[in-house]
Amino acid sequence: MNGTVDIAPSILSADFSRLGEEIAAVERGGATILHVDVMDGHFVPNITIGLPVVKSIAGATRLPIDAHLMISEPGRYAEQFVRAGAKMVSVHAEADNHLHRTLMAIKGAGAQAGIVINPATPVEMLGDALAFADYVLLMSVNPGFGGQGFIPTSIEKLRRLKRMIQELQLKTRIEIDGGIDLENISSVVAAGAEIIVAGSAVFGAADPEAAVRGLREATVQLV
Ligand code: DX5
Ligand code: ZN
Repeated sequence: MNGTVDIAPSILSADFSRLGEEIAAVERGGATILHVDVMDGHFVPNITIGLPVVKSIAGATRLPIDAHLMISEPGRYAEQFVRAGAKMVSVHAEADNHLHRTLMAIKGAGAQAGIVINPATPVEMLGDALAFADYVLLMSVNPGFGGQGFIPTSIEKLRRLKRMIQELQLKTRIEIDGGIDLENISSVVAAGAEIIVAGSAVFGAADPEAAVRGLREATVQLV
């Protein structure tokens, strides 16, 4: 391992009636990024939260907010998420016909820009777009819901993506999202993941603070 590993709890599995407390707990546990899942009921079969919630959270945490936009035509909204306080905004390659324009708009607004791909989308299709992104988010479940099982072939995809980035001598970071827990976190880090999203493994646990600490420790031993 060379770079640092970020633990990014996904608030999708949090208790929204106590969101501030849940966020404070993962901060104490050592989370370094807060992952926020935005779903539109169109690109994915679920509806979650949007701009007003991102804005409120941004005022209530010192962690950078990573907005994962699971929405159709994300270019229409991406900059607004930066203005709402997100420091990282990622859009699905499958949802955007003008990926370059959207990534440039996110960067121009002052945030890091990420490309997300679904489990069935090959990393090879990222091609030239890789150079325009600060990070790539590999989905290791089909987007839409927390608590799904990790798709094992994601490990091989992580390795291939890592190799592509190295060959192109880029600094693009790799994020992984879906079904990450104490059992598989070390394998995804060993395969190249540097930003680790975990929803149910954190907020589904009796003690989210301890859960984040446990995930962190599992990665520290690898570095
Ligand atoms: C799924 C979301 C994930 C989700 C992860 O569509 O993108 O961020 O919250 O939850 P777990 O870790 O439970 O798979
Ligand atoms: Zn997500």
